[in-house]
Amino acid sequence: MSVNMKKAAAERAVDEYVKDGMKVGLGTGSTAFYAIHRVGELVANGMDLTCVATSEETERIAGDLGIKVVDLSEVNNLDVTIDGADEVTMQLQLIKGLGGALVREKIVAAASLDQIIIADESKLVESLGKVCPLPVEVMIFGHEKAKRMIERQGCKAVLRMKGDEPFVTDNGNYIYDCKFDGIENPYFLESRLDTIPGVVENGLFLNMTTAAFVGRSDGTVKKIC
Ligand code: 5RP
Repeated sequence: MSVNMKKAAAERAVDEYVKDGMKVGLGTGSTAFYAIHRVGELVANGMDLTCVATSEETERIAGDLGIKVVDLSEVNNLDVTIDGADEVTMQLQLIKGLGGALVREKIVAAASLDQIIIADESKLVESLGKVCPLPVEVMIFGHEKAKRMIERQGCKAVLRMKGDEPFVTDNGNYIYDCKFDGIENPYFLESRLDTIPGVVENGLFLNMTTAAFVGRSDGTVKKIC
């Protein structure tokens, strides 16, 4: 029997954290997809929810399901955001952004009382940056210069491509996927990346997460908090 670990984690998270009348942030990616569908079911059953999308793709999926989606500027804050991740530690530190939505995801997470992460067990790591590259979104203007300054932090930065062309985010920027040999001090790295002209945001989500639901191959879902 094949177990859909992403779906199980997503449904547990929505059922535990999304309540009538809430303002909800909707994440981006193949795991968040299942959470958006669960939210759609709740809305179809009469729950009153106001949602903010973290990407144009999420906004489209939510709209098709009849979910009310508003701009972040229309709500002061959010009760909860449910989103995926690329790496999750037991201390709830994350790498996000392989799906290309890290800037809006970080803004929405920062506006949320609770940020809830959903993932399958392949995303659980002991420390950040050994498996996944760290996505860093940069302005197109002068991006080669930003790349050189990013690489001085000890990584190999590769411009993300979509076919023959650079991938362009919903914000009109490029992404460099930065391969480190492990990230020893994520707080220090984040502070250095934040000082590089042209860097819009990086995929380190540190101390932003309330809980993570991790779907396991035996069909159970582990909650980390
Ligand atoms: C998008 C993200 C996603 O949450 C992350 O890439 C996980 O995606 P998936 O659930 O498809 O593995 O950060 O920017």
